[in-house]
Amino acid sequence: MEQGDFKEGLHVAIIMDGNGRWATRRGLPRVAGHRAGVAAVRRVVERALDVGIRHLTVYAFSSDNWRRPASEVDGIFWLLRAFLRLETERLRERGARLQVIGRRDRLAQSVLRAIDKAEQATADGHRLDLSVAIDYSSRDAIARTAASATTAIPNERVPSPDLLALLLMETMNAQSTDVDLLIRTGGEKRLSDFLLWESAYAELYFTDCMWPDFGEAELEAALDEFRRRERRYGGLVPTEPQFGATEPRSRKTLMASGV
Ligand code: FPP
Repeated sequence: MEQGDFKEGLHVAIIMDGNGRWATRRGLPRVAGHRAGVAAVRRVVERALDVGIRHLTVYAFSSDNWRRPASEVDGIFWLLRAFLRLETERLRERGARLQVIGRRDRLAQSVLRAIDKAEQATADGHRLDLSVAIDYSSRDAIARTAASATTAIPNERVPSPDLLALLLMETMNAQSTDVDLLIRTGGEKRLSDFLLWESAYAELYFTDCMWPDFGEAELEAALDEFRRRERRYGGLVPTEPQFGATEPRSRKTLMASGV
């Protein structure tokens, strides 16, 4: 597949599962699986740039992952810091813009510093938006966005579903675009609180491949399958997504009408 093969702005999201099992099967500590997982992230980012994927979001650490033993959590954050430190220059050179999504209030200062540096250094990249989800929970992100969206409504009125939906769409879409293809490795078939809003019409692709074994060929296979899918967004013919059942009223009209 060559660059530009996709529609404008393809968003691929990946739940990188299977690191632990990959390591255990080899008699290695789980963190060795995460280390091999970082190498897979590097391969996939390079390939994403080559084939013209516009947005790539990877699930590095979920808010539920805090429940793992401290040694494993420390190992993952050590690897994340190393990735941010070692890969930033390469990402900048290749025109990738790195952004971290998720809560920041529970991250260590050293992690926050590494994130800030990587985000600033790659801020001008416009070929690939690489979002790394850290301390991420989609339910939490939606709840926080809803809470902040309602503060935009004057006089503390209770918003109508239409107005709330519009404000949510605006705010959520400013953070992340709709996912076109959601890949989960490692054989499980669930979403695990990842990009629930953004994946409303995502094509889902599950593979038994453990994340550390995922590379160019596996990404190609997922993209090939994606190209064969017909996306109808609830209609009868292939089309573009629409939000809501009817033509949405404008922000101005909804705000002015007070509903
Ligand atoms: C899931 O496998 C993977 C994780 C919880 C961590 C993913 C982290 C990385 C790939 C490393 C850092 C990421 C970046 C972006 C540099 P699992 O441990 O749940 O595997 P298992 O289901 O086999 O136990």
